[in-house]
Amino acid sequence: MNPYRFLRLLFKGPTPQQMAAQLRKPQGFMARKVGERMNAANRSLYEGAWKALDLRDGLSVLEIGFGNGLFFGDLARQAKALRLHGLDFSKEMVEQATERNAELIASGALSLAHGPSDRMPFADASFDRVFCINVVYFWDDPGSHLREVRRVLKPGGTFTAVLRTRSSMEKMPFTAFGFTKYEEADWERVLRAHGFTPTGTTLLREREIEFAGARFTPESLVMTSV
Ligand SMILES: C[S@@+](CC[C@H](N)C(=O)[O-])C[C@H]1O[C@@H](n2cnc3c(N)ncnc32)[C@H](O)[C@@H]1O
Repeated sequence: MNPYRFLRLLFKGPTPQQMAAQLRKPQGFMARKVGERMNAANRSLYEGAWKALDLRDGLSVLEIGFGNGLFFGDLARQAKALRLHGLDFSKEMVEQATERNAELIASGALSLAHGPSDRMPFADASFDRVFCINVVYFWDDPGSHLREVRRVLKPGGTFTAVLRTRSSMEKMPFTAFGFTKYEEADWERVLRAHGFTPTGTTLLREREIEFAGARFTPESLVMTSV
C-alpha cells in the first residue's frame, strides 16, 4: 500500500468509501478491525435470526457472509447436533473464522467454505435453513444469489435474511457507496419476484447509537421465506 494512504488511514480513519468496501468484503490489514466492529454492532441481529430459524435437533444450516465467525459457537447451542456450514467470499474472514472455531470444525459440527453466494460450492438440496445477516445490500443482482439459495435449500427449507431498514441505513453515510437499501415491502417484492414466499417478519429495534453526529435507534428486519 502507498505509505501516504496508510498514514492517512492510521490517523484519520477510513473514508466512507473505504468503510463501505470493507463491509462488502473485508480485506487486507483493516479486515480484523472491521470484523471486530461488526461483532460489537450486530449481536442482537444474530439473536433475532436464531429465533426466526426455529431450529430443531439435527438440522443442516448454512450462513452466508459470516464475517469473522464469532457467533457460530452460540448458534451451535441453539439445538442438538446441528450441522453448521458457512460461506464467505472474503479470504480474511474465512481464515479468522476458521481459527476462532477450530474446536467446532474439528468436532465435525461446522464446516466453512470460501466462495461467492451466486456460485455456491454445495450440492442441490443440502440445507434445511439458509440465513444471512447484513449481506443482501451487496447483492447487485439479487436473483443470481436467490437462485442459488433455492438450489441449495431442501424442499420446504427456509431462507432468513436480516437487514437494516433503508431509513436506518440512510443515517450511516458509508451506505451511500454500493449498498442497495430496502424497506420490508421492497425486500418482499424481490423475494416474490424470485419465487420465495415470505412467512414471517420481525422488526428489531436496536439500542440507540450515535453515528456521524446524530443519535438514532437503528431498526432491522428479520424476514423468513419459503
Ligand atoms: C457487512 S459483513 C456482515 C458480517 C456478519 N454477517 C455481521 O452481520 O456481522 C458482510 C459479510 O458478507 C460477506 N459477503 C458479502 N457478499 C458476499 C457474497 N456475495 N458471497 C459471499 N460472501 C459475501 C463479506 O465478505 C462479509 O464477511
